[in-house]
Amino acid sequence: MEIFLDSANVDEIRRWMEQGVIDGVTTNPSIMLKDRAFDVEERAKEIASLIYPRPLSVEVTTNHVEQMIHEARGFASWAPNIVVKVPVINEFGEPTLRAVRTLTEEGVRINLTACMSFGQVMMGAKVGAAYISIFAGRVADEGHDAPRLIREAVDWLRVWEYPSRIIVGSVREVMNIQEAALAGAHVITVPPQCMDKLTDHRYTRETVRQFVSDAEQALAKMGEMRVAVEASARV
Ligand code: E4P
Repeated sequence: MEIFLDSANVDEIRRWMEQGVIDGVTTNPSIMLKDRAFDVEERAKEIASLIYPRPLSVEVTTNHVEQMIHEARGFASWAPNIVVKVPVINEFGEPTLRAVRTLTEEGVRINLTACMSFGQVMMGAKVGAAYISIFAGRVADEGHDAPRLIREAVDWLRVWEYPSRIIVGSVREVMNIQEAALAGAHVITVPPQCMDKLTDHRYTRETVRQFVSDAEQALAKMGEMRVAVEASARV
């Protein structure tokens, strides 16, 4: 299973890359705005170079399929590891699948995003999306069973041998990450604030504190013994 960072914050991306646990990065227009990436091209190029050859998802910003195709071609030209995010429908409910098919045939890797249902996953697989993003937090917001959707989507892709990979996004809590992992998600994209929580534990800190303290005591004792041996050798 892969972990992507759901962020456009370069410091956070660098920090988690240095820890060696990041397999890619996802963004969307809201993340770009929150992380003050007003010049999307400049930030996307910076992140793409920082994480190369891992994938960086950058999302189209229009409701019009022809403009999506145009934007996507531009994004894909910024760096070889850019994956273009296309929402499965526009805000009017019109399918964008034609854009995904066209771009995929041109060799642009697509992350079909904002998916909340099994039907949308099937459509994404049919048009050759490299990734299909299930927004687990938003699925759960509406009272639906996100882990079940993830499990069924992953199983269905495997049975029919579709190469599309499921990215679980819209993560709110560490529990969502654990549930998605156990449901078989191929990728989970995690916001930076959840990354620390994944590794930290107050009892682990307490345990390490005890080990460090005991090691310091042992060192001190060793010092005392050395002094005593040296003193007895002098008499
Ligand atoms: C990731 O690919 C998604 O864009 C992101 O996780 C959405 O998160 P949200 O539901 O918190 O906006």
